[in-house]
Amino acid sequence: MNYIELNNKVLIPQLGFGVFRMDEGSQTYDAVRWALDAGYRHIDTAKVYDNEKSVGQAIKDSGIDRKEIFLTTKVWNKDINDGNTKQALDDSLERLGLDYVDLYLIHWPVRGYEKAWMDLEDMYLETNKIRAIGVSNFGAAELAAIDKRVKPVVNQIESNPYFLNQHDIAMSMKEGMAVEVYSPLGGSKAGGSDSILVNPVLLELGEKYNKSAAQIVARWHMQRGLIVLPKSTHKERIESNFDVFDFTLTGKEMAMIDALDQNRRTGRDLAYMRDQWK
Ligand code: A2P
Repeated sequence: MNYIELNNKVLIPQLGFGVFRMDEGSQTYDAVRWALDAGYRHIDTAKVYDNEKSVGQAIKDSGIDRKEIFLTTKVWNKDINDGNTKQALDDSLERLGLDYVDLYLIHWPVRGYEKAWMDLEDMYLETNKIRAIGVSNFGAAELAAIDKRVKPVVNQIESNPYFLNQHDIAMSMKEGMAVEVYSPLGGSKAGGSDSILVNPVLLELGEKYNKSAAQIVARWHMQRGLIVLPKSTHKERIESNFDVFDFTLTGKEMAMIDALDQNRRTGRDLAYMRDQWK
């Protein structure tokens, strides 16, 4: 496993497991158990995914030392709007059945995010409930607007071969943050007919290394220096997406994947979210 050192010295496993759009109950529980069995030690959930209970139960039942697992959750827009971030963390911890999370993120910079950030700073500085704090879906303007007692350790944003998002990645890194990428395989569209995972360039590279297109993409993200959070509900895919530590793409191959960029976002953009949560 590769680790990245965050700007507060905490180590984060570079390859994590995302659980967006997984149902509370056996779907999430099984997926997290399979992921932990396969070797993942980094799980990324959120209040709004509505599956924290199953994530926490799977971690507990895995028998793996809690300290070996890096767990992220996020405060949702309603609690940000309502100024309810401190209570939201306690509620997440209760659903998770844990006494701390490794990383707590502001999910979107919607109305009230500046106050939410100060609440995260307070909780980070004054309690043992969080080992690191960060942001998600922030641009340069939002980063400039938040209090500077604590620097965010990460910005979690979308990136995949059809949406490189290079500008925000470079900006975040320049600000001293690590970058986590969501929808790394193309998100919910990964299964569609225009799926990234049937792109001929990726399939050809897969043939060369005896890997799937998903494995090629995961490896590409890692070689870009990013923290990557692929997700799947299928055991074989969960296992194979983790099997990406035994090959290295050449510089030319990295550039071939970079060149697939269509600047096509799969998820929501900030303007939409702001409008929904004003
Ligand atoms: P499923 O849960 O049915 O496996 P992302 O990680 O970019 O958010 O998107 C993951 C999407 O791609 C999920 O919908 C997942 O669907 C699918 N997926 C994940 N891993 C693979 C894989 N190795 N091969 C094909 N599809 C995959």
